[in-house]
Amino acid sequence: MSTETNASSCILREPCRQSTDPTACTRLCPSYIAMHGASGNSGRVASACIPRDYAIDTITTAPPRADQPEVYKSVDAYVSTFTRQFSDADRRIKSLYLYSREPGTGKTTTAAAVANAYMTTHYIGSVQRGLQPSQRPVFFLDVNEWQTLFNTFNRPRVPDHVAEPASAKYYAWMAHAKAVPFAVLDDIGVRDATDAFRGDLHTVINARVTNGLPTVYTSNIPMDELADVFDKRLADRVRDQCAQLTFKGESKRGIRK
Ligand SMILES: Nc1ncnc2c1ncn2[C@@H]1O[C@H](COP(=O)(O)OP(=O)(O)OP(=O)(O)O)[C@@H](O)[C@H]1O
Ligand SMILES: [Mg+2]
Repeated sequence: MSTETNASSCILREPCRQSTDPTACTRLCPSYIAMHGASGNSGRVASACIPRDYAIDTITTAPPRADQPEVYKSVDAYVSTFTRQFSDADRRIKSLYLYSREPGTGKTTTAAAVANAYMTTHYIGSVQRGLQPSQRPVFFLDVNEWQTLFNTFNRPRVPDHVAEPASAKYYAWMAHAKAVPFAVLDDIGVRDATDAFRGDLHTVINARVTNGLPTVYTSNIPMDELADVFDKRLADRVRDQCAQLTFKGESKRGIRK
């Protein structure tokens, strides 16, 4: 059946010259496999850990594009700087802070779409330059889920068979988030965090800023109020080379299935 073999959900579909050729645009395409794996559930998209609901959003198809025109004007300009990853020039890729007080306005969707843009620019640009594309150019850290892992292995009397996998995953995510060329830190405004967890989040942000690695943050707290949640030093770190984009309107959750 064609539905089993076509690659209509490939994140390379927009830039790919072969996407209009049904004999070439299949799940056997080497670039499809590089992005999505032979099973459709592995490859670089899976390594990036972008949540399934957002995994194939792109900045042209993302639902919030229609009613956040100002944000998307800035997003388009921002994404056009991603080719800087291949140049030695001093002009770095900056960070973005996607903010709205209101939930459900499209911040996470947009962060995932921007991350996918970085991933496709990295893959295509590497192939064009005869370079080996990185297996994990991007990592999406869901800060709430990361905190849940932390709480799982820090509960009193938690059995080893529960604590050990949670802690292994927690520290693997931390290592990826510190080191990948491009990261999303989704929902950084965690209010009820312990000092220990906050310290780890601090370590991640600090490592990225110190090494000049770009990050997209999403948050329900404006960037200039972050010092109330974290300490002032960390709030200053986040603000380093970072532009805030404010999403307007009310929650759209439930509009798209
Ligand atoms: N402008 C929009 N038009 C249509 N659907 C939208 C729009 N914005 C968001 N959505 C949909 O609403 C849902 C929630 O969006 P998303 O998770 O990106 O919001 P968020 O701003 O990150 O929310 P939160 O603050 O709760 O984390 C998604 O299914 C998304 O596709
Ligand atoms: Mg969100």
